[in-house]
Amino acid sequence: MSAGAVSPSISNGGKFENCNFLILPNDPSAKYFAISPLTMQKAEKEQIIQLINSWRERSKLSLKQILARIQAEGCDVTRDMFENRFVRFDQKPDIAPELTMAVIAAFTKGLTLNERCMPVEAIELAKLTHMPINQIEAICQFFPESEFDKAFSLTASPKYKPAPTGPSRVHFPSKSYHRLIGRTQELQQLLTALRERKRKAVIAIVGLGGIGKTALAQEAMDQCWCEGIFQYIVWASAKTERFIGKGTRKIEVSDYSFEQWLDDIARQCKRDDFVPLSLEQKRLAVKQLLLEQRVLVVMDNLETIPDYEAFVDQLFQLLGQSKLLITSRHQLRLEYVFTLDLGGVDRHEGITFLREEGKERGIATMAQAKPDDLSAIHQVTGGAPLAMKLVVGQLSRLPLDNVLYNLQTASFAGPNYDFYRFIFKYSWDMLDLESRKTLVSMSVFDLANGSSAQSLSEISQIEVEVIQMALEQLILLSLVDINGNLQQHRYTLHPLTHYFILSDIVKKWS
Ligand SMILES: Nc1ncnc2c1ncn2[C@@H]1O[C@H](COP(=O)(O)OP(=O)(O)O)[C@@H](O)[C@H]1O
Ligand SMILES: [Mg+2]
Repeated sequence: MSAGAVSPSISNGGKFENCNFLILPNDPSAKYFAISPLTMQKAEKEQIIQLINSWRERSKLSLKQILARIQAEGCDVTRDMFENRFVRFDQKPDIAPELTMAVIAAFTKGLTLNERCMPVEAIELAKLTHMPINQIEAICQFFPESEFDKAFSLTASPKYKPAPTGPSRVHFPSKSYHRLIGRTQELQQLLTALRERKRKAVIAIVGLGGIGKTALAQEAMDQCWCEGIFQYIVWASAKTERFIGKGTRKIEVSDYSFEQWLDDIARQCKRDDFVPLSLEQKRLAVKQLLLEQRVLVVMDNLETIPDYEAFVDQLFQLLGQSKLLITSRHQLRLEYVFTLDLGGVDRHEGITFLREEGKERGIATMAQAKPDDLSAIHQVTGGAPLAMKLVVGQLSRLPLDNVLYNLQTASFAGPNYDFYRFIFKYSWDMLDLESRKTLVSMSVFDLANGSSAQSLSEISQIEVEVIQMALEQLILLSLVDINGNLQQHRYTLHPLTHYFILSDIVKKWS
């Protein structure tokens, strides 16, 4: 990872303004160390110069070489800029996190153990230059993991404890997974958006039921909690239904109200005193709270709330310096929403997922499964985690071919009806007749290539303008994916949607 890649946009010149403690990741003893929120002090400047001086002596790099190495990290630094920051006592300009990271890279990459700076020194430089805590962890990329972790615990000072108002985990929902598999890129994208202070106030994870939206949101919440980005993390869920294998409870439109949401926020931010207030007073009190504190509000299953966009817009008006993270099967058309479209996991991640799931559930046949069989499961399920779990569960009773056949030949009387119902019923009920016809006519196209609007119009005998509107609705409900380029769109289906529209379930529901 390059130094630039680990640094979200820093608009405050590298000044530290959020939290003043750091939780050591993966460390059960959870140590903390302080970083002063002030701009650089004289003593800090002296230490920086001493540190860099010793690194230069040890590495035997010339100033020219050092500058070239920093520039190679993507930092456009001149000799003058470098000297003002790391050599001259009389100058104290702020040192941006990107530059600190590039300097650490310059004094580590390709150098021997005797030539490079030590992890403890690199962390020291990060502290002295007021690097935000959420970026310090990225220094580990320059050192062996164990060496870095040891240095980290050495620099942790027991005298600093997290603020008593720090985020509490008691409201976090229990997880249905043991370890999040894959999703590295998506999680990174999500965290970058969550760390941004000025932009991306509302972030939505959107995708089919069972694709892994809630799991990803939970992982992001955990990470935010560890990094101390937010003072409070609030969890709210609008849905009551869950797929548990044997059956699902009837889908109900959620009656979760905006006032309930305000109550949830108040309670989870330890402001129970807001709850008895009138709705208008409560709105103002929560607005003040979200302005003064950095709160992450997570709303799971947003799509079950009628008029969910107006619902989100109401909270957006109160957000202040806080953020809203949403999971939803349906897209939001509000222009300020940053959307992460979630598809299935890739093949490699899918195989790891299947092996772990098999191990977790003690299904012996999975341990010896051939890579080809695992690939076949991944392909048929389109990498959807819930579908992969369903398959693994059935493998204790049925041979693989039967399990995959059953999934592909979905039917009203078949063994997987509840599963299909859970994923598709709610969205199917929302479709108008043209959209249903359009969706069903997509079944004749090749799964990988999908179709154009024109060819869909020819097949379905529906005018292309009507098809366009139908596609818009289908995309909104995550039933159709859009591919291709700006000039030519191609519309594709997730494999599960494909089996669903081929089945007799659509006829029964129509
Ligand atoms: N990346 C992942 N690693 C491990 N388990 C996952 C992953 N993504 C989803 N799961 C599991 O798959 C199931 C479906 O995921 P979930 O997040 O509930 O989907 P959604 O919220 O999109 O309906 C859950 O049991 C969840 O714990
Ligand atoms: Mg969910």
